[in-house]
Amino acid sequence: MLMDTSIFPIMDDVDSIFADDVELIRNADVLEEDYTPDEILCRDDVLQQYTSVFKPIYKGRPPQNAFLYGDTGVGKTAATKYLRENLERDIERKNEQLPENEQITLNVVWINCENFTTGDHKTSSYQVAVGIVNRLRDKGNRITGTGYAPQDVYDIMYEELDDLEGTVLVILDEVDKIGNDDTLLYELPRSRDIGYVENVRVGVIGISNDYTFRKNLSPKVKDSLCETEIKFPAYNATELSDILSARAKLALYEGAYTEETISLCSALAYQEASGSARRAIRLLRRSAEIAEENGSEQVEESHIRQADKDLEYGNIVESIVDQDDEKLYILKALAHLDKAGLTPARTRTIHAAYSRVVHSYNTTTGKDPLTQRGMFNHLSKLVMFGFVNTIDHNKGVGGGQWNEHEFSDDVNPQKVKDAFEDRNLEWLDVDVRGIKE
Ligand SMILES: Nc1ncnc2c1ncn2[C@@H]1O[C@H](COP(=O)(O)OP(=O)(O)OP(=O)(O)O)[C@@H](O)[C@H]1O
Ligand SMILES: [Mg+2]
Repeated sequence: MLMDTSIFPIMDDVDSIFADDVELIRNADVLEEDYTPDEILCRDDVLQQYTSVFKPIYKGRPPQNAFLYGDTGVGKTAATKYLRENLERDIERKNEQLPENEQITLNVVWINCENFTTGDHKTSSYQVAVGIVNRLRDKGNRITGTGYAPQDVYDIMYEELDDLEGTVLVILDEVDKIGNDDTLLYELPRSRDIGYVENVRVGVIGISNDYTFRKNLSPKVKDSLCETEIKFPAYNATELSDILSARAKLALYEGAYTEETISLCSALAYQEASGSARRAIRLLRRSAEIAEENGSEQVEESHIRQADKDLEYGNIVESIVDQDDEKLYILKALAHLDKAGLTPARTRTIHAAYSRVVHSYNTTTGKDPLTQRGMFNHLSKLVMFGFVNTIDHNKGVGGGQWNEHEFSDDVNPQKVKDAFEDRNLEWLDVDVRGIKE
């Protein structure tokens, strides 16, 4: 007798609070961020261009440099991982046919530049160089991110690179996090020409979703790193459906979803996240989880709508987390005022609350509050970013004009609190009663 495996109900005897009555997800790994798909779909043109960048390496010729750019979630990292794996596999195969002295040696150093940003310390060329050194050294021999003169770090890095053989491909993902100092981006691709290395040939791939960064690269970097530029366009709803459909087949039990599931998730990711495949995949995962929590044997529209709301919530919190300290303090001041029923509030009221917030952290930060004008500049940015709304009061000639501020519909005190938690900042209670005259 054939068993119906399309849905796998949990019937075991263990009665656990962690179990759901039905399971729709067959393989959760496939929905994870670091999963590399076997096939990169809907990217034929881009892949063709990108493959040509790697061809010289396969042929044992000097490597090329390339700069990849495009919005978030459009497959830049996925395509790079995919081609890297293919290149390494094919070189291994080719080497099996070649005499030892003709074999190709490829070393890949993959650095995610985001990992070097901590709190106020932005990633810099220096820290990425430290990262490259440590990637090439064993645990006991690593260097720290402080305490070396920049030139020393670069020297150590080139020594480490030169100790390798053949081709070194350095992949700098999220390279925009490197900030204004693009020394590394200029020098690394030219390291052999400049004479920093003799034994190896270095190729660099830079990946970014920040268009301003690309525009502002110095002409020197454009000349070296951007030898080949590859643009990853956003996906349309049909392409998202194709990608999501392939993923769903591997991740979910047959019968746990329908074509409508795929098209709704794709349509929402297209409308709300400008064609991000990441968003579509996350939406599918969250929808399936909600369906499981509800004991439903299939993902329904209501589950997808709920999942979409959950993700929006996470996005807002994430973008609050990205703000600088002054803006976080202002948002916290607004959170206290909001809770005390004191919003919308005038700028001077917000400034008084903000000052109390800054003082409450003073023992750890040593920081004093900005002047009202200084704070107002940050507040205006928060309005511009859509976190805060301004209410304009204009009583005409002689009646005066003033502004009041409150959270926009997207923000509430809980989200600000969650963002503080994500940033590992303690949430100190601040009393704002009596602050408004
Ligand atoms: N063409 C594709 N085929 C299959 N899966 C894809 C494709 N494009 C993107 N994905 C999947 O979508 C998710 C996001 O893609 P990826 O991480 O490559 O985005 P990205 O362009 O690097 O974005 P970011 O700029 O935010 O880093 C990943 O899970 C990836 O596997
Ligand atoms: Mg990426």
